[in-house]
Amino acid sequence: MVNPWFETVLEAQRRAQKRLPKSVYASLVAGTQAGITVNDNMEAFNELGFAPHVVGAQPERNLATSVMGQEISFPVMISPTGVQAVDPEGEVAVSRAAAARGTAMGLSSFASHAVEEVTAVNDKIFFQIYWLGSREDILARAERARAAGAKGLIVTTDWVFNVGRDWGSPEIPEKVDVKALLKMAPEIAVRPRYALRWFNRGHVNIPDLTAPNLTAKGETGPTFFGAYGEWMNTPPPTWEDLQWLREQWGGPFMVKGITRIDDAKRAVDIGATAISVSNHGGNNLDGTPGTIRLLGPIADAVGGDVEVLLDGGIRRGSDVAKALALGARAVMIGRAYLWGLAANGQAGVENVLDLLRMGLDSVLMGVGHKDVHELSRADLIIPDGFERAYGID
Ligand SMILES: Cc1cc2nc3c(=O)[nH]c(=O)nc-3n(C[C@H](O)[C@H](O)[C@H](O)COP(=O)(O)O)c2cc1C
Repeated sequence: MVNPWFETVLEAQRRAQKRLPKSVYASLVAGTQAGITVNDNMEAFNELGFAPHVVGAQPERNLATSVMGQEISFPVMISPTGVQAVDPEGEVAVSRAAAARGTAMGLSSFASHAVEEVTAVNDKIFFQIYWLGSREDILARAERARAAGAKGLIVTTDWVFNVGRDWGSPEIPEKVDVKALLKMAPEIAVRPRYALRWFNRGHVNIPDLTAPNLTAKGETGPTFFGAYGEWMNTPPPTWEDLQWLREQWGGPFMVKGITRIDDAKRAVDIGATAISVSNHGGNNLDGTPGTIRLLGPIADAVGGDVEVLLDGGIRRGSDVAKALALGARAVMIGRAYLWGLAANGQAGVENVLDLLRMGLDSVLMGVGHKDVHELSRADLIIPDGFERAYGID
């Protein structure tokens, strides 16, 4: 039997590929168009080196920090991802894993489990908003999340309804009915363990793909496609819309999807608590540089005014250290925990968080720091031209 513990996120990804139906795996791995951005998100980290000391390591090292008012045991949190068809327990398993490891979680608007179920097992939940429907609809969803115990909002603005992937977009059924199941049967038949997980936990009748957090009160949510259609027909938000929501909400507020300095400054102007330098994991406009190239100049410009996070391409603890050294307060992970979830459910997500923690701790030891907040550019070897600054006023 394979040891359930995996030693790298890449190993978790290999197991995910073996265990998930082809189309489910494809929908997670892919970025848009030619995949330039999804690849650069990961590859750019490899261009950065470390400059370690060999003597003088600190015997004890502190990794704890805080994000948007929540104390977290180390600077890695869960980035929101929608429709976690990877596992029947989806976001609830991820939330438990994050709680077990003392960290926070962003819960997607397009999550497959209700916000109340997710906050019940972790008190550090931020609810993610897509601009979908009227201002009143959006606020009502945020208020429902607040009533459930959500501690902040993450507003994701970077989505251009891009279509076309060179590796082929997976077909997502409108409704999981007999017709759809028969169509998926050949790929599910060769992934018996995946099917068993759904059957074992009483999910014999696979529910329709709905978005239960897009309603104000918890009644049955719209189907995924119904919601997506409404989203496409909603005018994209302006900065004034975001400021309005920030004021109505009145609590911790993150703008996710920043890649330019001028946009980072606008987020500060509207009173955001945090930004995430993000390109939606390479799922938005292909050709956007890897986020780690953009981080340093943005953190230099606004790091004193707003908490700066990064997401995109984090697969190792050393990636976390590189982001912190370039000015991030913390990072958010997406695919890494989805691979863990696919490989071994909640324990797999905990496994991924443990790997990132241990990898970060090793870097701290190597560069001789006793606290994550001491990491800086001086710890890195940064090739000329690596950092990219856009939108300088
Ligand atoms: C399958 C998938 C679904 C996602 N769904 C959402 C979402 O619903 N809301 C959101 O703000 N970001 C979403 N993202 C983007 C992630 O929050 C995050 O920005 C990205 O995954 C980071 O890159 P990484 O996967 O390389 O860590 C999604 C990403 C993936 C891979």
